[in-house]
Amino acid sequence: MMRRFCCSFCFLASLALNLFFVINPYYLSGWKKQKLSSWAEEAAAEAEAVALISCSGHGRAYLDGAVVDGKPVCECNTCYGGPHCSLFSPDCAADVNSGDPLFLEPFWMQHAASSAVVIAGWHRMSYTFSDHSYISRELENHIRRVHAVARNAITKGKHLIFGGGSTQLLAAAVYALSINLSSPAEVVAAVPCYPDYKTQTDFFENMHFEYDGDALLLKNSSDTTANVIEFVTSPNNPDGNLREAVVSQGVSVGAIYDHAYYWPHYTAIPAPANEDVMIFTISKLTGHAGTRLGWAFVKDEDVYQKMLSYIAEAEQGISREAQLRALKLMKTILNGDGMELFEYAYKKMSDRWRKLSDIVSLSKRFSIQEVPSLFCNFFEKVRGPSPAYAWLKCERNEDTNCTAVLRAANIIGRAGSLFNVEDRYVRLSLLKSDDDFNLLLLRLDKLVTQDDDRKHYFKNS
Ligand SMILES: Cc1ncc(COP(=O)(O)O)c(C=O)c1O
Repeated sequence: MMRRFCCSFCFLASLALNLFFVINPYYLSGWKKQKLSSWAEEAAAEAEAVALISCSGHGRAYLDGAVVDGKPVCECNTCYGGPHCSLFSPDCAADVNSGDPLFLEPFWMQHAASSAVVIAGWHRMSYTFSDHSYISRELENHIRRVHAVARNAITKGKHLIFGGGSTQLLAAAVYALSINLSSPAEVVAAVPCYPDYKTQTDFFENMHFEYDGDALLLKNSSDTTANVIEFVTSPNNPDGNLREAVVSQGVSVGAIYDHAYYWPHYTAIPAPANEDVMIFTISKLTGHAGTRLGWAFVKDEDVYQKMLSYIAEAEQGISREAQLRALKLMKTILNGDGMELFEYAYKKMSDRWRKLSDIVSLSKRFSIQEVPSLFCNFFEKVRGPSPAYAWLKCERNEDTNCTAVLRAANIIGRAGSLFNVEDRYVRLSLLKSDDDFNLLLLRLDKLVTQDDDRKHYFKNS
């Protein structure tokens, strides 16, 4: 009896063990999958629920936005209001002051799945990566690959540094180029120039550098004792011109090439950039200005080390979440042949430029800059203009304050004096949302047709 019981027990135990080992891997892996994905699914469901909130195409609800009655609410575009952003304010001004690159938002909505990131609660909590650096090597590799696709920069043999936007790298480069000089460096930029070179240099001014204004004034300087650092913006903000350094090499201790807009979106790429210090930003490449990530390619080891120590001292490196997001965006750009973002952005910007030019061409009161068609290394053909900004000029003698002329017509632009030239010029941003751009066209069309030269002629005759 006892023997029979033992045999049956052994048989059942072995059957149970066999079943356990056969079923276990499947069961475990399924269970694990369920367990592992549940937190990600929860995060995804939360993100999707917010994305589904209807803001009538004139606003957006965000996970970290305001909450009313426990639910996130719409943040409306300028000139739109109401709980679903469906109410347009007819008297509202077209605000085209800032360079906020929201024109790319629809691209990212079309690529919602490939560009979304889920960040685990324990994602990269350390101050450093495992190689003790502050840089994701994977992101570095992807950035180099994006430049190779865009054919806009030679990155081989150059060090890469990340900064809190390119804004921080501009300051880091001035620091690195000036710190060991025996007399203070004069920091210059040819006008019209991006205002932050002056405001930032003035803000951080110390015994090593000071802002000295227009580079063109120093171009033929006989003062060979000066140490000059030149910012070169190419293409230029505000006028879109491709630029080279103007200060002679004898007095220049270095040029900082700001290539924020050196992408096929905004300009033909005649040849890949290959300067000693080149600065780029995700803000104008993907449109993610809020991510605050810029990068610099630096040839010289010593300048690179000094820029690195500036970033280490100021920040201990750039947010790991920002780097993770940037990596995802770069991967999305590189999907397929990597051309899609550039083609989309070029088409959109050239379309905007054409519409604006058509309106301005009807007027004798206003003009905008001429941007020549050029051969583009990326498109492998001659291509037309697609600048980030219109540099508008009031042509009438009495219109010395062009910003005020536009303001009276309900258009908010950025005054020429901020770019170190006369206020006869105004910068109009073409980078903002479709709502902002369409309103600009509407207001400008009204201004041009109301204000045509015949009326002006009769009024003054
Ligand atoms: C010429 C130029 N450089 C740098 C920047 C700053 O960009 P970031 O967002 O990377 O700080 C801008 C922003 O508009 C710019 O126009």
